[in-house]
Amino acid sequence: MKTIYFKTILPRTRVKTRAAAGQPNWLLAELSYRCPLQCGYCSNPVEIAQYQDEIGTDQWKKVLKEGRELGCVQLGFSGGEPLVRQDLEELVLTANGLGYYTNLITSGIGLTEQRIKRLKENGLDSIQISFQSHESDLNDYIAGNDVYLKKIETAKLIKQYEFPLTFNIVLHRKNIDCIKDILDFAFSFEPDFIELANTQYSGGFALENRDYLLPSLEQVKQAKRIVDAYPKGESGIIYVFPDYHQGRPKACMGGWANNFIIVTPDGAVLPCLSARTLPGLNVPSVKDSTLGEVWNNSEMFNIFRGEDWMQEPCRTCPDKIIDFGGCRCQAYLLTGDKFATDPVCSLSPQHNLVTEFVEKERSDEFVFRNFENSKKIMANIKGKPVIQ
Ligand code: SF4
Ligand code: FES
Repeated sequence: MKTIYFKTILPRTRVKTRAAAGQPNWLLAELSYRCPLQCGYCSNPVEIAQYQDEIGTDQWKKVLKEGRELGCVQLGFSGGEPLVRQDLEELVLTANGLGYYTNLITSGIGLTEQRIKRLKENGLDSIQISFQSHESDLNDYIAGNDVYLKKIETAKLIKQYEFPLTFNIVLHRKNIDCIKDILDFAFSFEPDFIELANTQYSGGFALENRDYLLPSLEQVKQAKRIVDAYPKGESGIIYVFPDYHQGRPKACMGGWANNFIIVTPDGAVLPCLSARTLPGLNVPSVKDSTLGEVWNNSEMFNIFRGEDWMQEPCRTCPDKIIDFGGCRCQAYLLTGDKFATDPVCSLSPQHNLVTEFVEKERSDEFVFRNFENSKKIMANIKGKPVIQ
């Protein structure tokens, strides 16, 4: 059985990076920012309302074809929630005909039996479903909607239709102490792969809620000990350690414009999920250029390729071939300089921006994306309070 998982945050291993454009492996098609969930750590842009104008089916088909011509072999359908697009099945059929290995990255909401049957017939290869917690109250509170039971139904349906299943959960201060229960819950679905991803604060709503979500170093270490000791059987598990506690950054996206090409719902072409937040860069679009032109020639994709753009201490650091100076979006959002060393690195002259934040007392204020929904969910939560 083929198994694949979608990950943008790689562990610290040596990754080949290129000064010139090579060939991408991954195309991530963010079909829509619309979503029935309202997670407070979503990587989608905070100013989401600006990007409601979605490109159409024919434009997406053209994008898929151009992606294959460029060399992409893995295709992720993502969002928001990709199932809100009624042309998803048609796009899966096109992708299958082009020879992609396809992965649906979903909240699980909207995947009816009729739709999963069509997706199977049309050649979808694998599905990743996300949960917000192992138990309903916290799951629905974080998701901002009453979705827990539906997600369980969907996970069972995915297995029933014999798709390779990746179980994904974002870890944070409010759920990480339940890691053993989370693993028991995840394994009850017999997944092929489990992704335990500590929240990354490189943009979107996660950065807004950083104070609420960031666990302590002791919490993440204890969770790691439990994950390491857990009997895994044949399932693969990845535990993504938070870079705030690591002293070194991760090779975000496996290196800028090295392996990934992302097309957003409105047709922007980006090398990472938050690249639109970087100032002074023209944002290329599939409406004006082919993927090949953007990948090879655009300022957006070329600006951080290779090493010439690096400042000290990265420029002369032996680890630059491992992490490429860290996440460009995080560096910009924390320092105001998109060329700066990522401040999560202990060698960064601005590392205090991270250490001071880690050491300060955590706040319990949560920035809701949909306050009215989350209030209703709160009102329905009975019994012991899981949210403190
Ligand atoms: Fe990576 Fe730069 Fe830190 Fe060296 S100084 S470890 S290259 S971020
Ligand atoms: Fe890391 Fe943009 S999110 S480089």
